[in-house]
Amino acid sequence: MSAPLIEVRSVSRHYRLPRVSLLRAPAVLTAVESTSFTIRAGETLGIVGESGSGKSTLARMVMAFEKPDSGQVLFQGQDLHALSATELRKLRQKFQMVFQDPFGSLDPRRKIGWSIAEPLRAIGVDANTARRTAEALEQVGLHPRDAEKYPHEFSGGQRQRIAIARAIVTRPALLVADEAVSALDVSVQAQILNLLMDLQDQLGLGILFISHDLAVVAAICDHILVMQHGKPLESGPAAQVLHRPAHLYTQTLLKAAGVSP
Ligand SMILES: Nc1ncnc2c1ncn2[C@@H]1O[C@H](COP(=O)(O)OP(=O)(O)OP(=O)(O)O)[C@@H](O)[C@H]1O
Ligand SMILES: [Mg+2]
Repeated sequence: MSAPLIEVRSVSRHYRLPRVSLLRAPAVLTAVESTSFTIRAGETLGIVGESGSGKSTLARMVMAFEKPDSGQVLFQGQDLHALSATELRKLRQKFQMVFQDPFGSLDPRRKIGWSIAEPLRAIGVDANTARRTAEALEQVGLHPRDAEKYPHEFSGGQRQRIAIARAIVTRPALLVADEAVSALDVSVQAQILNLLMDLQDQLGLGILFISHDLAVVAAICDHILVMQHGKPLESGPAAQVLHRPAHLYTQTLLKAAGVSP
């Protein structure tokens, strides 16, 4: 087995809620509690759970946008939250996020070539950005000439391809996709999922795939982690979680998604 790309070790994250009374300590919400998982090159881990179960909080900690209160996130053996800002900036090109809402994350006044090259500029790569943008557009099934167009000239599915192009332009080893297909029609969803799988085959990507929809997760993931109220409820190979769920809650998610155990 290859070495882990990402190793999440018992991370927890709490949020302090607004104080309701001067006489009382503010309440603390546990968004994620003692959650662990590992993703290797070429593997897809699906995280499922209903709204508020802590999925996006986990994604933000994996992306080092947010620090866990306890626990560690190791990327290729390096503790992300122990790195200096400069070290983290350098390493960032190896793990990228596919944003959920390409409508919100693409600047409507900028040509999409500019938006796709943004992560390259963020890590200080100035050379060959046009060539690398063209390459990323081709990898997601668009045309290099599309770099000159504006977001409104594309369909929802094409915009999601652009979001993926932006995520792979730095040639990452890990993609984090948080509800990346949730806003799309089912047929377009399938195309985007196929694209992710093709890119994974070609580039050997590890993928952290987050969705509230177990049907989508079932379609592409090798391993599944079910979250409930910030806690890991069950995890294992996809076939096991889907066909022999250990918890009633997982069975409910399966039913809601129309996946029969
Ligand atoms: N910045 C924050 N401040 C306070 N509470 C937060 C913050 N971010 C998340 N939370 C709370 O933490 C819990 C987990 O939220 P999170 O966004 O991780 O859930 P999720 O599983 O991604 O939900 P969804 O499916 O709706 O995207 C929720 O109760 C949420 O309200
Ligand atoms: Mg979320």
